[in-house]
Amino acid sequence: MSFPEPSTIAQAHSLKLQQQIKTAMTQHHGKISFHNYMQLALYAPGLGYYSAGAHKFGESGDFITAPEISPLFGMTIASALKPYIAAMSQPDWLELGAGTGRLAESILDYLAKEKNLPQHYFILEVSADLKQRQQDYLQAKLSGEIFKRIIWLDRLPNSFSGIIIANEVLDALPVHRFKITENGAKEIYVVEANSDSTALNNFHEILDNPSSAYLEQRLNALMLPKEQGGMGLTAGYESEINLQQEALLKSLTAILTQGILLFIDYGFPAREYYHPDRDTGTLMCHYQHHAHPNPYFWPGLQDITSHVDFTALAKCGIENGLTLETFMTQGALLMHGGIMELAQAFLTQEKSSLLTANAVRKLVSPEEMGELFKAILFSKNLHIALPQQLEDADCRHRL
Ligand SMILES: C[S@@+](CC[C@H](N)C(=O)[O-])C[C@H]1O[C@@H](n2cnc3c(N)ncnc32)[C@H](O)[C@@H]1O
Repeated sequence: MSFPEPSTIAQAHSLKLQQQIKTAMTQHHGKISFHNYMQLALYAPGLGYYSAGAHKFGESGDFITAPEISPLFGMTIASALKPYIAAMSQPDWLELGAGTGRLAESILDYLAKEKNLPQHYFILEVSADLKQRQQDYLQAKLSGEIFKRIIWLDRLPNSFSGIIIANEVLDALPVHRFKITENGAKEIYVVEANSDSTALNNFHEILDNPSSAYLEQRLNALMLPKEQGGMGLTAGYESEINLQQEALLKSLTAILTQGILLFIDYGFPAREYYHPDRDTGTLMCHYQHHAHPNPYFWPGLQDITSHVDFTALAKCGIENGLTLETFMTQGALLMHGGIMELAQAFLTQEKSSLLTANAVRKLVSPEEMGELFKAILFSKNLHIALPQQLEDADCRHRL
């Protein structure tokens, strides 16, 4: 890989994190699960990719997310959710993993114009670095009247009623990786490489038995034939499973007394996720706008992600008492949510037509984010008919 060389300071930062990962290995008989490796690489306090000061978002960072492309993304989402907002009467919002704060900014701006400002807009952000960036950015951008409604949380509240939203958060949760062998499903573990000391090969992978009985049970279920509800995975197949997204959904469901949960992310229904052709999984790394598959490249300096299995998420929500309101592509959500109409209004206000047209194309076009990114909406104790514009775009049958 011929990527831009990190600065000496950045390399020293990564080496410090690598040392911490090696210490964790020593404490666990020389190996840690890939899940634990990914947890440390992204979230080790002060050192992980999200916890430390790497720029991450935008042109000068490693990747661009939808709220960074245009405020039309957040405005259209808030517009699409209007019937739910009306049914709950100015509900509170809870955003998970707010990145730079741009999604919150666009949603709150839109709600202010609609005279539908919530009393509270809560943000739960696990990264201390991003929390500080969100606070600085939103304070500078929003009026005092709006800013005072934003409350940063350190953990989930005991109960919440209103709208929960998370854009590109599930893909950033650590996953368990596995490989199917002739001797059953094995988990991928990471060990220290014993030769050289370059960042690319400080670690390598070995297979061993799954780290928990529950994981083993889930992997065995994926190996069952399709007629028995499995995915028919056979020897040689490698992929990942995101148990943390299910744990997060369960916790959110437990605190939600009434309201909706909207997750937007890249991913597929299970049949496509575990398609026989996708036999090396969906793990992907992002370093300075280069996407590549090596999670051991300068740990702490690059993002590591995987796609979302929306069937598993839907199943988990339903099993925990949520109603699956709808599932659709991001393109459909934005088109049916009225992005074109909002773009017209937006144009007359501030942006050049070329910039706006480009942003809309990136967000909705199937070749860009429109098809790969999906939206899944759950409700709890809130009985309203699915708004017509969402009904028209609904794809729950694909799950
Ligand atoms: C890929 S970024 C997306 C940021 C933003 N939502 C956007 O669309 O630009 C993932 C975000 O999720 C946060 N995050 C990861 N795990 C989380 C969790 N369990 N709860 C809340 N935030 C989390 C990260 O710190 C980061 O802010």
